[in-house]
Amino acid sequence: MLIEQGRKFEILQRRYLVDSYINRGLTFVRGEGCYLIDESGEKYLDLMSNYGVNIFGYNHLYLTQKIAAELPELMTLHGSFNNDLRALAAQELVSRCGHGLSRVQFSSSGAEAIEAALKFAVLATGRKKFLSCGGGFHGKTLGALSATYQPKYRMPFEPLLWDFKFIPYNDLDSLEEAADNNVAAFLLEPIQGEGGINVPAEGYLREVRRICQQRGVLLILDEIQAGAGRTGSFLASDEEIEEMDILCLGKGLAGGLPFGATLVSREIAEKIPRSIHTSTFGGNPLACAGLLATLELLNDALFLHVKEIGDYFSGRLRKIKSNLIVEVRGKGLMIGMEFKERRDSIIKDLQKRKILAVPAGSSVVRFLPPYIVEKTQIDECVEKLEEVIKSLK
Ligand SMILES: Cc1ncc(COP(=O)(O)O)c(C=O)c1O
Repeated sequence: MLIEQGRKFEILQRRYLVDSYINRGLTFVRGEGCYLIDESGEKYLDLMSNYGVNIFGYNHLYLTQKIAAELPELMTLHGSFNNDLRALAAQELVSRCGHGLSRVQFSSSGAEAIEAALKFAVLATGRKKFLSCGGGFHGKTLGALSATYQPKYRMPFEPLLWDFKFIPYNDLDSLEEAADNNVAAFLLEPIQGEGGINVPAEGYLREVRRICQQRGVLLILDEIQAGAGRTGSFLASDEEIEEMDILCLGKGLAGGLPFGATLVSREIAEKIPRSIHTSTFGGNPLACAGLLATLELLNDALFLHVKEIGDYFSGRLRKIKSNLIVEVRGKGLMIGMEFKERRDSIIKDLQKRKILAVPAGSSVVRFLPPYIVEKTQIDECVEKLEEVIKSLK
């Protein structure tokens, strides 16, 4: 009876929600800093930021104050009316992104940001052929799913949209071959997240941009997971790409509120007719308050911190000795640890020790810690991970 009581909400969820998520068997009722707190007050160290959303952890004072201040003012307002926070948030986001991007379309999720990007690419080029990468993940709505590689997500719905072709990630020859003049755009993650924290060779993004430009193919950068400071710069592709066509953002940019953004260059913006793409909640003032507050926190000092603490985390993981480990890879606080086998047991056993990580690809444990993570918390994770790995031998 006591266990039933403790699992009341899990049982209710399992009974009334469509069973479309893996259920990790935990019920969280509160978050504080880097911790999620369950019904009985047990704290779990969240080293995946709630799938990359809670980049400043939970209940961050500045973010919650800024969002709470907007609640009684105006939570939501359709895009056909103007709004102070939406105007300021758009101005700030466009200027922070730079790279020749001149306008933004707001939405409420990553997949929605991708949908807009695909439609804008069709409007700008008149073509309906797209390239994306093996291992790539762009979301699960029909357009985004058409560009998402994983066959298990796609198969029940095929044929999907238009003409999508997958090429190998980090392979310029395949791009050269595939980027013909029927292609509207190449959809690319600067570092693959869901696919296994795959970091391309230095110079890959620069060359991709050159090839695309040469062939008149637009480049859609999906920085939904890798952007917003995660790799130690505002955008993961900041260093290699000067001029951008289309950029998608999402996850934690609005302080944890549902958010997506599709930024476009001036030339593309001019080809988007009025009313062709709208969304009731896109750019709602509440999310814009979260976005403005988050952008304030994303400064150079923070990026440096993300690089340093990310190097510390990767460095400590690399020192773990076990023949189960294939490799530790990533950038900043986007880190993957690949195992030869037993990946799922490792994540489960970490969870039993109150550390949360997520899978990526078929063999990678993915860490996306909040930017406020401290060395002592990383040390705790590494100690427990060593314990887990030893126990598997
Ligand atoms: C790179 C990338 N693109 C798109 C998405 C889809 O975002 P959402 O789940 O908000 O629709 C994700 C989500 O994990 C992602 O990592």
